[in-house]
Formats: sequence, structure tokens, C-alpha cells
Amino acid sequence: AKKITLPQCKEMKKQGKRLRMITAYDYPFARLVDESEIEIILVGDSLGMVVLGYDSTVPVTLDEMIHHSKPVVRGAPNTLIVADMPFGTYNVSKEDAIRNANRMLKESGIEAVKVEGGTRMAPTVRALVDAGIPVMGHIGLTPQTAAQLGGFKVQGKTEDAAQQLLEDALALEAAGAFSIVIECVPVGLARTITTSLSIPTIGIGAGPYCDGQVLVIQDLLGIYDRFVPKFVKQYAQTGPAIRAALGDYAREVADGVFPGPEHSFGMDDEMKGLY
Ligand code: KIV
Ligand code: NA
Repeated sequence: AKKITLPQCKEMKKQGKRLRMITAYDYPFARLVDESEIEIILVGDSLGMVVLGYDSTVPVTLDEMIHHSKPVVRGAPNTLIVADMPFGTYNVSKEDAIRNANRMLKESGIEAVKVEGGTRMAPTVRALVDAGIPVMGHIGLTPQTAAQLGGFKVQGKTEDAAQQLLEDALALEAAGAFSIVIECVPVGLARTITTSLSIPTIGIGAGPYCDGQVLVIQDLLGIYDRFVPKFVKQYAQTGPAIRAALGDYAREVADGVFPGPEHSFGMDDEMKGLY
């Protein structure tokens, strides 16, 4: 499929077509996503938890995001690639945010950045957009500031909190964001926000009425099993399959079963190239 443009994201919303987004953090997974019909790859700072083994997304650095964005860009030439600005790279000043986002675009080749936060972050989003950097917003449960929210909880459950989230979404749209991730909010609120905006909403734990959906690829594939949130659907159990394969390999080497003759070379084999 041909790479979707930023204006086409908005066009899809108008046409009632749902956007599909998935995370990737390396070349092989980026290639697999690129072969699918999924429109957008997010190089998420979930990288910190599902790939780098941190306990939260807070420690992820700009260099780590750039390091992992580069192979995704190489592996997915036909997919729109958005990357998270990590914590601490856009909360100091607008100038600092622009400088850091510039590095992400210039050094890795991604096309847009995602930043967490609503009304408070809107002036920074405006500054980034005015500097020529496309921005995806992210409201609701914002993992980088989960401690301030009282942990990993559903957001917008009181009338005041719901009203604030709607205002957050409107502020991000007015600031020039091209789409907004809505994470862990009740179905009805996500629907209200979605119908109140002309830019697409992309939900995770936000029900079926968003304009698109996103999942972490390790969650979808059943690889990351430290915990499985309610909003995750495991489309495959890859973790157990990998565990079984590693067990078979270990046993066969121990037993002298692998490598067999079909995986070994004789003196008279033609050595035209090993593959
Ligand atoms: O980092 C991430 O993977 C994300 C998505 C879950 C939206 O921000
Ligand atoms: Na993220």
C-alpha cells in the first residue's frame, strides 16, 4: 500500500474510514507492518518498557528514541512513521522542544512526533507545528505523567474530568495537531471527543467510536506478559511459541540431534554462497 499523507488522515475521518496504528521499534517488525494494511507506525516510548526493560517510560532518552526510529524508517518505506518525544525533551521550553524534535526528524527520518498532554501542552504543540513539525497529541492516561494522575487508571470518569479532557482535545486541535491518541477513557467520552473534532482520534482503551485504534505490537502478539491490560487483545500467543522453540533448540543441541546432515557441509559441497 502507498504511504498515507497527513492530510489523508483527516480525509479518512471524513469518509468514516478507520485508521490503524501499531508500534514498532526495530527493522524486522517494521518490515512486517509495512507489508500489512496498517497506515501508521508509532515508535512509542513504550520502547522503554517492552524492549529496554525499564519499569516506566520516564527513563527513555532522545538518543534511544532516535536509535530505534532509524531501523523502523529503513524497514517501513510505505508507512507513515510517528515517534514519541520522550519525557524531559519537550517540558523545558518551546525552543528546547523544537530543537529535540528537529533532531528526531533529521537524524531518524520519522515524519511526525507525538507528545503527551492537553491544554498545558497546547502552546508547545503550536510552536512545534509553526516550526514545521507535524504533531500527534496524546490525552487521557498519559504514561509519562502517570504518577501525577495517581497511577495507571481510567481517566475522565467524573463530569469535571470529562469536560477537561474534551477541552484538552479541542486545545490540541486548535494548536495544529494532526491527530490525537486517547488512552484509557470511557467509551462515551471518547465518542464525544471524537465527534467534537475534525482531526482523527486514535484510541487505546477508549472504545470503538474513535477514528482509529493503536496497540503495542508486543501486546498484540502476546510477547510482553508482565501484565495484560483489559484493552489488549492478543491476536497471537507468540511468547509461548518462542519459549517452545528455544526449549526444542536447547534439547536438540544437548542431545546431539541438531545440527543434522541437512544442516552441515561436506568437503565436496559447492560453496557458491551459503544462502
Ligand atoms: O508509547 C506507546 O506505545 C504509546 C501508544 C500506546 C499510544 O504511546
Ligand atoms: Na508513548
